[in-house]
Amino acid sequence: ALDAETKRIVSLFELSDDWLNRAVGEYISQAEEGLRSDGTSLSQIPTYVTAVPNGKEKGVYLAVDLGGTNFRVCSVRLNGDTTFNLTYNKVAVPKELMTAKKAEDLFAFLAKQIETFLHEHHKDEFEGVRRRTRSTRKGQKDEDIFHLGFTFSYPVKQLAINKGTLMRWTKGFDIPDAIGKDVCALLQTELDKLHLPVRVAALVNDTVGTLLARSYTSSGHSETLVGAIFGTGTNGAYVEKLSNIKKPIEGEYDASTGKMILNTEWGSFDNQLNILPSTTWDTDLDRESVNPGFHVFEKRVSGMYLGEIVRRSILEMVQNEQLSLFKDVNSSSNDWRSTTSISPQSGLMQLWGLDSSVLSVAASDNTPELSVLRQELEDNLDIYSPSLEDAQAFKAIADAVGRRAARLAAVPIAGVLLQSGQLNDPDSDVIDIGVDGSLVEHYPFFRDMMYEALAAVDGIGPDGAKRIRIGIAKDGSGVGAALIALVAAKMEKERG
Ligand code: BG6
Ligand code: GLC
Repeated sequence: ALDAETKRIVSLFELSDDWLNRAVGEYISQAEEGLRSDGTSLSQIPTYVTAVPNGKEKGVYLAVDLGGTNFRVCSVRLNGDTTFNLTYNKVAVPKELMTAKKAEDLFAFLAKQIETFLHEHHKDEFEGVRRRTRSTRKGQKDEDIFHLGFTFSYPVKQLAINKGTLMRWTKGFDIPDAIGKDVCALLQTELDKLHLPVRVAALVNDTVGTLLARSYTSSGHSETLVGAIFGTGTNGAYVEKLSNIKKPIEGEYDASTGKMILNTEWGSFDNQLNILPSTTWDTDLDRESVNPGFHVFEKRVSGMYLGEIVRRSILEMVQNEQLSLFKDVNSSSNDWRSTTSISPQSGLMQLWGLDSSVLSVAASDNTPELSVLRQELEDNLDIYSPSLEDAQAFKAIADAVGRRAARLAAVPIAGVLLQSGQLNDPDSDVIDIGVDGSLVEHYPFFRDMMYEALAAVDGIGPDGAKRIRIGIAKDGSGVGAALIALVAAKMEKERG
């Protein structure tokens, strides 16, 4: 049985159905504000992407993807029949580059990875281009150039399909020098320094890429309404009617479809904390993050932060001398420091020291003795012989934080869905939502808990929830970026 203190902490993470409904209302109102003006908490950024793929797209395109922790370079062969083949290299972004002094340092690293990839996987084409370019001396012809789609998963004020200035960093990146600069130009400059035959043709957010990829693969079955990431960070993109976008959209775009994909940047939903639940641990975490006051929704939902919320709440129990949890029962001291069963080196004692993957271990351990979790606490968190009670308390709190995240994750999905009116459309049998990211992929029952929350929302209900299909679009954003590079290259050609 759980002790009273654990129960109290768990209850702080509970969100009632009534709360969910109020939160969805708040989301819709902040979303509408974002359609009317700039500078609101929900940015609703126009992406200049006005059509979704039809599955018939064909050709080989490059895509690079700067996500939460990894940088990926891929080439995508679109087969024109809703299928594709993907080749990719993945490297972790070195920690010191995440907070580099100059933007150039990061983008030079990215360009170098692209060069390595071309050498490894496209050596023949690459060498061929170099030879031809050298022999004609006329510079590169269009067919000699790889068109590249750039997935850049940070808030960008987009100015054209291949141009966008960085608004601010999220997910632990902090390179002030890059803010306000065009990230496509930053990458192109470094590519040119290496004399690579690559043109940055399109810029997309990972959510936009996910939405496009999902549209490509599900063409013919259903239309995709939302592309969402629940990974290191969280965000969503959706298809909006142009007539609903009241704020001015600068620059050129093709208005003939009457639609445009918007990048909501819902990580910043309710930065003003009108409705979001705030425990002391949420507040402290935000204060100690690199972007206090921003992306406060993300800080309650996504993988980068969940471990830290659990760590802070568990630490409070460790420090509570009244509790026997996480203490050495044989000690008679009343100072928690000398009685705790946790090593001072433990991740539990360090800021950001608890990886969110421990939450997945906790959620999937249903053994009566919690033996898997206890082993994990011992091996990875240096807790000396955790008792069953310790593990039960840890699991209860970790599960509560995970469940709160999944219920929160349902809020923007419900908001976008209700605002779109799609549930009332008799032609929309299934409403497709494409998702990607480590959290939704690896945290057990994340989607189940989202469905449960969606069913509790007025206007959706259990019947509506059954029509929503939340499907994983694995590695989607690379494919999506390739698709947009194709569209952009075509547009460029048409313009001559
Ligand atoms: C990857 C996508 O699969 O998922 C990236 O290709 C995206 O574009 C990423 O940013 C999100 O997941 P995580 O867990 O790496 O943040
Ligand atoms: C952060 C970024 C956003 C991205 C999301 C998911 O919220 O600001 O652009 O889409 O993480 O990776």
